[in-house]
Amino acid sequence: SRFWNQPNMKIIIARTAGFCMGVRRAVETALDASNGQDGPICTYGPLIHNPQVLDLLKEKGVPAISEIPEQGDGTVVIRAHGVPPEAKEALKGAGFSVIDSTCPRVIKVQRIIHRYAKKGHHAIIIGDRDHPEVIGLNGYAHGLGHVVETLDEVKALPDFENAILVAQTTQNVHFYDEVKAWIASTHPHYLTFDTICDSTEKRQADILSIAQNVDAVVVVGGKSSGNTQRLAELARESGKLTFHIEDTDELDLSRIKHLKSVAITAGASTPNWIINKVYRFIESGTASEKDLFGIPVSALKMALLRSNAYLALGAA
Ligand code: F3S
Repeated sequence: SRFWNQPNMKIIIARTAGFCMGVRRAVETALDASNGQDGPICTYGPLIHNPQVLDLLKEKGVPAISEIPEQGDGTVVIRAHGVPPEAKEALKGAGFSVIDSTCPRVIKVQRIIHRYAKKGHHAIIIGDRDHPEVIGLNGYAHGLGHVVETLDEVKALPDFENAILVAQTTQNVHFYDEVKAWIASTHPHYLTFDTICDSTEKRQADILSIAQNVDAVVVVGGKSSGNTQRLAELARESGKLTFHIEDTDELDLSRIKHLKSVAITAGASTPNWIINKVYRFIESGTASEKDLFGIPVSALKMALLRSNAYLALGAA
């Protein structure tokens, strides 16, 4: 019953909300490793940028370590965002058995940068300077990398004899188009690669079109998740009332209860049960995980993480 809000409020969940291929793969890899492995297992840095999934992994006995110890014990899983090559070597050198769950789309960009760096090409990397994926990519440039966040920073770069242009896989598609256009007109000999992943492109196109037809957009996902931040930026730029929340307690219902339509979207690392929880919260005015499918959600989370029906559920 929708006693609390506009009786006819329309609530839409974006079709593209939730886990992307790379995140699903990393989570499954970590869970498989925790089931099949003797000895301790950890991830090097947070496996993905979602606090609820990280909590669940911790519960399963897969904590994240932030420093590489001198003496590693057991198995370490490399995060979906990837790491610089030296970090991977250091993990092996410490004695860990290493499972690499870097997203294949990220590995593709690492390889491009590495291949051209060996030939002496500089790499202009459009991305968030402090984001682990970008730090990893930069490592593959072997000293020839230049991380830039704005067009002004691109313009301030020196002229290179040879350079390539790449973007973090979750960058804003339109921003990267702008950078590519500027490079094409000023440095036509630079090589440009379309490295924003298809999952990111679809998600951004989806929210841009959905935002036009609703009064507000709720973006669900980790505050440190780059792709989630970008979705919130796009929704805000579209002029719609926008909320970026990690969980229901951050959503002030009094600000949306009078609206006719609300869209929910979620980052690539946001698990399905949170998306559902937010939907139910907006629908009913109360936050509860207990009644999800009539079963305690705590009993379902692990299965939901692995389920292929997961995305379909999100769009229900
Ligand atoms: Fe990979 Fe793109 Fe997801 S790079 S981790 S598929 S957002």
